[in-house]
Amino acid sequence: MYNEGEKFPDDFLWGGAVSAHQVEGGYKSGGKGLSIADLLTAGNQTTPRIITKAIEKDHYYPNHEAIDFYNRYKEDIKLFKELGLKSFRTSINWSRIFPNGDDASPNEEGLAFYDDLFDELLANGIEPVITLSHFEIPHNLYVSYGGFKNKKLIDFFVRYAETVMRRYKDKVKYWMTFNEINNQMDNFDELHVWTNSAILFEEEENKEEITIQASMNELIASAKAIKIGKEINPDFQIGCMMAYVPIYPYSCSPHDMLSANKMMERRFFYNDIHVRGEIPSYALKMWEKKEFNIEYSQDELSDLKQGTVDYIGLSYYMSGAVTTLPDKRGHSIRDYPKAMTISNPHLQSNDWGWQIDPKGLRYILSQVYQRYNKPLFIVENGMGAYDKVEKDGKIYDDYRVDYLEEHISEMYQAINEDGVELIGYTPWGIIDIVSFGSGEMEKRYGLIYVDKDNQGNGSLERRKKESFYWYQTVIEQNGLII
Ligand code: BG6
Repeated sequence: MYNEGEKFPDDFLWGGAVSAHQVEGGYKSGGKGLSIADLLTAGNQTTPRIITKAIEKDHYYPNHEAIDFYNRYKEDIKLFKELGLKSFRTSINWSRIFPNGDDASPNEEGLAFYDDLFDELLANGIEPVITLSHFEIPHNLYVSYGGFKNKKLIDFFVRYAETVMRRYKDKVKYWMTFNEINNQMDNFDELHVWTNSAILFEEEENKEEITIQASMNELIASAKAIKIGKEINPDFQIGCMMAYVPIYPYSCSPHDMLSANKMMERRFFYNDIHVRGEIPSYALKMWEKKEFNIEYSQDELSDLKQGTVDYIGLSYYMSGAVTTLPDKRGHSIRDYPKAMTISNPHLQSNDWGWQIDPKGLRYILSQVYQRYNKPLFIVENGMGAYDKVEKDGKIYDDYRVDYLEEHISEMYQAINEDGVELIGYTPWGIIDIVSFGSGEMEKRYGLIYVDKDNQGNGSLERRKKESFYWYQTVIEQNGLII
């Protein structure tokens, strides 16, 4: 029934999303080991987060307490139920289960925590959607093994995945292996390489080559985990998770078009392997030209083929544009992967410069669906903004409602005009969380406000924003009434 407005399929998984390290806190509680996120200091719009070698007392580490979900999840789940969520996406904090990553046996207290969390969700009619690795690699795997460039991490990840999939086989149906696995390939910048793969680079190493090796190891680990997961419970739905920032050509110059294509290949590389189980030809050619020695065995190739995903989870926040047009000095770029990213003059940006583009969501949903013909699940989308608590105690975040409404409307078009199979939508930061990129609390995404500022002050009290009531109605009506 779509005649009353923009209605969605009956079993559509309306939900909300967070990750363990951005909400839980309790960074040393319950036998948890240090994770790489625990070494990230606070930053802001202009100051990047620093990765410290150890915890240093002069720095503030916002993930150590985050929003104290570790102790308050029951109270938060009550709010999620009131909101009407049908699904809730979070991650398992790997270092709660294997504190050092290479431990002989898992930490029972960590396992019991997620037992309770999932039981609480299920008791409230909320389906857990679980990411296995959302920037929470045990720190020891960096120190002692150099991160995912080391093939031993494949075994550590698979053991961890098998442990939790067995433990929660009757509680969790929807899984994803690595969060935004493709982000590390964009600029090989320190933060993304750290959070995706925890690579310890040696001086003489080529960063691009090593990041590709780490990525291949993760893709192999993901495929092996999927194979085992399907043996544990054939009803599991196991997906990958990709960050999709569609890249537009800035002009209709064929050079711009080709460079946009080249940039999209860096995203598709991961999905091509996750979905098709084969290394795409453009990647093999690039490795050959750059004389990269990427190591994988015949057995690993067959793992890739056998461990393909059931669905594609994706985050969508913005689009980007590239140009090869001559710069001020008259130089044109003809090396397509090096095209410059440029601000799109047709779009507005949020306070952090992210360009808001609801139509880009419809565009990428249809591109990805046509390419892979797999169900899609939007597991992150939202607007980071400064919110203000008014004198009456309310938070009037109409800008967030506008953002979400426009994106939901494009999702509807993608389903009903373009034939995309979309199974759910979990807006990001359903409750205010620590921003990943900047480490700020005040870059807020939530429909539930958390009283805490960038310096860590605040009562942690929860408060419903106006967007809470709006989304409640959207879920109740199963879509937008236009
Ligand atoms: C995605 C991540 O990159 O975007 C999340 O999966 C992150 O962890 C989200 O929080 C928004 O980014 P930021 O930097 O605004 O928190």
